[in-house]
Amino acid sequence: MSGSKTYADYLELHTLLSLQGNDSELSNDEQHFMIVHQVFELWFRLVIIELKAARSLLLQPVLPEDDVPRIVHHLNRCIEIFRLMTSQWKVMETLTPQDFLAFREGLGTASGFESYQMRELELMLGLKQSQRVQEMDPLAHFRKLAERGGRDAEVLKILEAEEQMPTMGEILSKWLSRTPIQGSLAHDENDEEIVSEFVNSYLSEHKRIGERAVERMAENGVKNMDAVRERFESAHAAANDFLIPDGKISRARAGLLFIESYRELPLLTWPRILIDTFVELEQSLVLFRTHHVRMVERIIGRRVGTGGSSGVDYLDATLKYRVFSDLWTVRTLLIKKESLPGLINSEFYGFAGKEN
Ligand code: HEM
Repeated sequence: MSGSKTYADYLELHTLLSLQGNDSELSNDEQHFMIVHQVFELWFRLVIIELKAARSLLLQPVLPEDDVPRIVHHLNRCIEIFRLMTSQWKVMETLTPQDFLAFREGLGTASGFESYQMRELELMLGLKQSQRVQEMDPLAHFRKLAERGGRDAEVLKILEAEEQMPTMGEILSKWLSRTPIQGSLAHDENDEEIVSEFVNSYLSEHKRIGERAVERMAENGVKNMDAVRERFESAHAAANDFLIPDGKISRARAGLLFIESYRELPLLTWPRILIDTFVELEQSLVLFRTHHVRMVERIIGRRVGTGGSSGVDYLDATLKYRVFSDLWTVRTLLIKKESLPGLINSEFYGFAGKEN
C-alpha cells in the first residue's frame, strides 16, 4: 500500500545502499572510489532522461513556441548536473596516488572508457567515431564485449539503437534551417534570393573588415605581414566555406548567423536562448572532461590507463571534441552590429525600431 511506504521504500534505499561492496573486504579508499563512480553514473542517468525529454520536443515537425522554454529547461538541468559533476572531482582527488595504487590492480581492465551511459549521452548529442581519437572506438569495444551475451549484449542494443536516432546536433540544424531570414520563410517564393543576398552582403563585409584589419596592422608595423595576411584570407575562406559549403548556401547556418547577428529582435529571443543553452551545455561537458583529466594527471601521472589507453595524453585529446560545431564556428565569423547587412522586414520579428 503506497500510504505505508517509508522514505527508504520509496527510494529503494536498502537496495541502493547494498551496492557499495559493503560485505566484501573493500578498504575505505576503495569504497570511496566506488561510491564516487556510482554517484557520477546516477547523474549520467538523469542527464540521459533530460536529454531524451528535450529531444522528443525538438523532434516535432513544427516546434510550438511554448515548447522552446521547455527544452531550455531540460537542457539547463543537464548543465547544472555537469557543473556539479565538474566540482565533484575534488572528492575523488582526496585519493592519493599511493592510496589508489593499493587497489588499482584489482580493477583489471575496467575503465571509465566502458561507461556506457557516458557513451549513450555522447551518441545522443551526436559525437561520431570520425570525430574521436581514431584508435579509441567505444562502440567497437562494446561490440566485442557483447559477444559475451547477457548484460553486455543489452548495452550494445541500447547504444546501437541510439546510434540510429537523429542526433541533437542534426535536429537542431533542421530547426535552424527553418529560421525566418530577413522576414523570409524557408518555403517562401523569393526565399533563396533573399537568403543569398543576406549571405553574400555579409561575406563581402566580412572580407572588407579583414582587409581593413590587415591595413591597420601594416600601418602599426606588425611584423610578418605575409603570414598575417594569409591568416585573414584563410579566415575569410573558412567563413565562405561555412556559409556556402560545396557551393550551395546552408540555410541552417545562414539562419544561425541571422539569429546570432540580430539577437535583440523579440521574435528571436527564445531561439537565441536555445542556442546559448546548447553552447553552454557543450561547454559544461568540455569542462567536465577537462577537470577529469587534470584529476587523473594528479592521481596517476602519465601512466597507461586501466583501459589500455595512453591515459592523460588520450584524455587531453578528447578535450577537442565538439558536437555543436556550427554553434562554435559561427562565433568566429561574427561582425559588429554597425557592419551588418541592413535589416529588412523588421516588423516580422515584432521589432518596432527603424530599418537601416
Ligand atoms: C582515480 C580516479 C580516476 C582515474 C585515475 C581515471 C582515469 C581514467 C583514464 C586513464 C581514462 C582513459 C581510459 C583508460 O585507458 O582507462 C579514463 C576514462 C574515463 N573516465 Fe576516468 N578516472 C578516474 C575516475 C573517474 C570517475 C569517478 C568517472 C566518473 C564516471 C570517470 C569517468 C571516465 C570516463 C567517462 C572516461 C572515458 C573518457 C573518454 O573516452 O572520452 N573516471 N579515466
